[in-house]
Amino acid sequence: MKGKVTVPTIRDMKARGEKIIMLTAYDTPFARILDEVGVDILLVGDSVGSVVAGYPNTLPVTIDEMIYHTKAVIRGTKRALVVIDMPFMSYQTSIEDAKRNAGHMIKHSGAEAVKLEGGAKMKEAIKAIVDIDIPVMGHIGLTPQSIHQMGGYKVQGKIQQQRQKILEDALAVEEAGAFSLVLECIPSELAQEITEKLSIPTIGIGAGVHCDGQVLVIHDLLGLLGDFRPKFVKSYVDLRSIISQAVEQYIKEVKEGVFPSEQHSFHL
Ligand code: KIV
Repeated sequence: MKGKVTVPTIRDMKARGEKIIMLTAYDTPFARILDEVGVDILLVGDSVGSVVAGYPNTLPVTIDEMIYHTKAVIRGTKRALVVIDMPFMSYQTSIEDAKRNAGHMIKHSGAEAVKLEGGAKMKEAIKAIVDIDIPVMGHIGLTPQSIHQMGGYKVQGKIQQQRQKILEDALAVEEAGAFSLVLECIPSELAQEITEKLSIPTIGIGAGVHCDGQVLVIHDLLGLLGDFRPKFVKSYVDLRSIISQAVEQYIKEVKEGVFPSEQHSFHL
């Protein structure tokens, strides 16, 4: 195991030109595996709502649900930096709410940093949280908590006016004191420009190869979510089929009286 990953480690990785590896994690067994193989940042994303809880989007996720999943991730993690997502309505209502909820989530989850969505309009909230020494990861471009405003999960920054706004958002997040920035679903060229302009690392999802790091939802990487796959997702294995085959085999063996065998049985 290399040394513990901290917020300064992540900053240094950009300076060294070393790619940052981030994945989502929502429970102890996954956290343990991802941590052991060397993932740098485990993000307990509010994507837990759609990926694990079956909600239609991330909006229903609560602070308590985020804390529950993050505590599970912390129990499986030794090396990676653990970041907790601030759910919808936990930071948008006021600077006081943003500070209080960020503090509450760090205190009760064990995470080492928070992530929140939004650029220039979240500048003061980010600054206030950083001022109480809680590291903040920003998130701009496609921000899933704004799904209704955006009219769906669409690539952002395709027109010049939008590109200028996204660039301004990136600069605002850096100025506010965030230690890193997620760029979601924006053109590769724009992500490259932002990555070159910022001194803090950018972590891309659907933002091309030029970002300082990459993030994917672990269930997407493992092919657990079925047939719908956004363009930016690469599934490295079809775990859904493997799980189906294993469970089908279990059903067959139980029906046929093959399982449990002698090997799996106790005797007086
Ligand atoms: O909630 C999440 O998992 C995220 C990542 C996709 C960046 O925000």
